[in-house]
Amino acid sequence: MNIYAKRREKLLKAIKGDCAVILFSGNAVNKSEDECYPFDVNRNFYYLTGLENESMIMVLSRINNVFDERLFILPYDELLAKWVGGRMSKEEATEISDIRNVDECSALDDFVAYLLNRNRKNPDFELFFDLWHYSSEQAPTPALKYVNKIKESHPAVIVKDIYPYIGKMRLVKDKHEVDCIRKAIEITNKGVRKMMSSIKPGINEMVMEGTFRYVLYENLCDKTAFETIAAGGKRATILHYSSNNNLLEDGDMFLCDLGASYKNYCADISRSFPVNGKFTRRQKEIYELVLKAQKLVEKNARPGVSMRELNSLVVDFYKKELPKHGLKKDVGEYYYHSVSHHLGLDTHDIDGGMGAILKEGNVITNEPGLYIEDEGIGIRIEDDLLITKTGCTNLAVNIPKTVEDIEKIAKG
Ligand code: GLY
Ligand code: MN
Ligand code: MN
Repeated sequence: MNIYAKRREKLLKAIKGDCAVILFSGNAVNKSEDECYPFDVNRNFYYLTGLENESMIMVLSRINNVFDERLFILPYDELLAKWVGGRMSKEEATEISDIRNVDECSALDDFVAYLLNRNRKNPDFELFFDLWHYSSEQAPTPALKYVNKIKESHPAVIVKDIYPYIGKMRLVKDKHEVDCIRKAIEITNKGVRKMMSSIKPGINEMVMEGTFRYVLYENLCDKTAFETIAAGGKRATILHYSSNNNLLEDGDMFLCDLGASYKNYCADISRSFPVNGKFTRRQKEIYELVLKAQKLVEKNARPGVSMRELNSLVVDFYKKELPKHGLKKDVGEYYYHSVSHHLGLDTHDIDGGMGAILKEGNVITNEPGLYIEDEGIGIRIEDDLLITKTGCTNLAVNIPKTVEDIEKIAKG
């Protein structure tokens, strides 16, 4: 049994009665004319199969204690193979997912109809889909479309959301997942070091972004975890600045928030450093406040505390310290996000709620910041923490962040 088969077994164990779970890998979204946005697989489908191809459907079921799993994929297409390459074969799909029964997508409807008809009078039977949908403005997911179709033919069937069940599993990372996150962070480290050593006044933010991406490619990593933020001066006070197209000026600080993606697992790292390689006294003063706040979180992150409590530590620390540094407005004027979120197959991974108690195996970010718009200073320092039995391990410990280390790298 491979890791995906074990996860499928664990998932069905968490559901009490007879059930079927239908998950779609998804389809690329059309961009314009005949072009699509790059495809990114539904993370829950990937978590349970290890497959990241379009137009695949997995159906798990357990009826009268008989467990069944099957996969539906598109057939080989010779013309398509000549234009864009061959589709995955049934054998390859089995090899990766450990699902033996693989059929063509065209057989899905009949199989689902068979399941539904067979369980028409079974009061225990529930049908699960991944009903997660970021906003009602977005186009319906393949799962939502399929649910609507089923409700027309089988109005009495009980449809439930599998997302909370998978989410609960995904919040606690297994060894394979932690290894993948470590690898993503290791590649990110190389990129950040290259940026630190090559930054200088007059460079455009997009060159810094490109430097990061180039190092990823050098390391055979073809994907960032999210859109890189590369912001100089005052622009670093915009939390999710995305233009990355301004010149970096002498005397300014630079903020990057970025991460490599490895086997779809994300790194989420922020570093802030001076464009000319040397912190001014004021920049160093503010930087070290953020660093102290970050250390406070690292010291307190462990099973039993919540992310809300970790964030309160930062807010309380700033309340005490900021006025001593001439920052007299409310803390919320200088620090306007939270210190942590879960990290995994998504950068903003499963939202367990700020009040949820941390557990061994959670991976969270530690990202305090200070944003002083009228001084043109935006600083965020972000590491990724693995919650252990008694505390946490900083997975980003090798990425330079002390003033001394950063200045040393800039000097060459
Ligand atoms: N990169 C987005 C975040 O840190 O939450
Ligand atoms: Mn980040
Ligand atoms: Mn983050």
